[in-house]
Amino acid sequence: MKLIQVFQNLQHHLKKLIYRNNLIKLSSLYDDAKWGDNHRFAQHYQKHFAPLRLKKLKILEIGIGGYDDPEAGGDSLRMWRSYFPNSMIYGIDIVEKKSLESSRIQIFQGSQEDKYFLEKVIAKTGQMDIIIVDGSSVNEHRIKTFNILFPLLNDGGIYAEENTHISYWPSLGEKWSKLSEKSVFLANHVNVGGSLDLNASDTIMAMYKRLADGLNYQEFLNPGYSPSYFDKHIVAMHFYHNLVITYKGNNNEGSNIIENNTLHPFVLETLGVKSLDDLELEFSKVEQQGNK
Ligand SMILES: C[S@@+](CC[C@H](N)C(=O)[O-])C[C@H]1O[C@@H](n2cnc3c(N)ncnc32)[C@H](O)[C@@H]1O
Repeated sequence: MKLIQVFQNLQHHLKKLIYRNNLIKLSSLYDDAKWGDNHRFAQHYQKHFAPLRLKKLKILEIGIGGYDDPEAGGDSLRMWRSYFPNSMIYGIDIVEKKSLESSRIQIFQGSQEDKYFLEKVIAKTGQMDIIIVDGSSVNEHRIKTFNILFPLLNDGGIYAEENTHISYWPSLGEKWSKLSEKSVFLANHVNVGGSLDLNASDTIMAMYKRLADGLNYQEFLNPGYSPSYFDKHIVAMHFYHNLVITYKGNNNEGSNIIENNTLHPFVLETLGVKSLDDLELEFSKVEQQGNK
C-alpha cells in the first residue's frame, strides 16, 4: 500500500472517531449515504437515533446500494456500524452482495417483497430494533414489506421509510425508457406505480396517511369498528420530506368520550339520549389498513 493511501486510511479512521456522535458529519464520509443533494435524512436520523446510539441493537437496512454490481455499495451499512458501536447491522439487497460482509455487518440476498425470504431472515437474526427501507422503488413492494416487517419489529422499534417521492410518480413505462438508459436512478423510476392523484389509495404515502388516522382509532365514532394490528401497535409517526419514521408500541391510551368506538355512557347521559341510534348519525365504512 502506498504511503498516501496509508495516510488517507488513517485520516478516514480518525474522522470516523471524531464524528462518531454526529450523523450529518459521519454521513459525509460515506458515498451518498443519507446526505446527498436531494435527500437530507441524516439530520432526522440523528434526532431519532441519538438516544439509542450506544445500545446493543439489531438494525436492518433494505437496499445496500451499488445496484447490479455485487462488489459495490454498502456505504450506509458501514455508516450505521460506525454510528452504533454496539449493534449488529444487517443488509438486504436483491443483488448478491455477500462480499461486502465484515465485522458486525451481515448480508442477505433476496427481494423485499418476498414474505417467505423476509421471515426466514428474521428467524435467523432475531427481531429487529430498527428497520430502514431504501430498496425497491415500487410502491407495491414497499407496502408489502411494511405489512410483513413492521409486525416483526421489537416493541419500541423504529421503521424508517426513505424516498417516499415514489408515491407521486406515475408508471410511464416505455415512454421513459430513453431517460432510463442514461441513469440507473431513472431506470428505477420507470414503473414505480405512484399516482398524480393525491387521494390515490395504493401508494406508500396513502398507506402512511391512513396509518396516521389509526393513531386515533380509539376516537373513531364507528360502532363495530375492529382495530387492525397497526392501529394497536403504532404509537408515533414522523413525516419529513421523503422520509416517514414510525414507532412501534402499545397504542392503548383510551379516549375521553369514546369507548369501543361508540359513545361513552356518560356522554349519552349528558346529551340526554338513551342510545347512539337516537342521534341518527350516518356512519361511513372505515377501511382498515392491512389487518394482520
Ligand atoms: C438507493 S440504493 C441503496 C443505497 C444505500 N442504502 C445507501 O444509502 O447507500 C437501492 C438498492 O436497492 C436494491 N433493490 C432494488 N429492488 C430491491 C428489492 N426488491 N429488494 C431488495 N433490494 C432491492 C438495489 O439493488 C440497490 O442496491
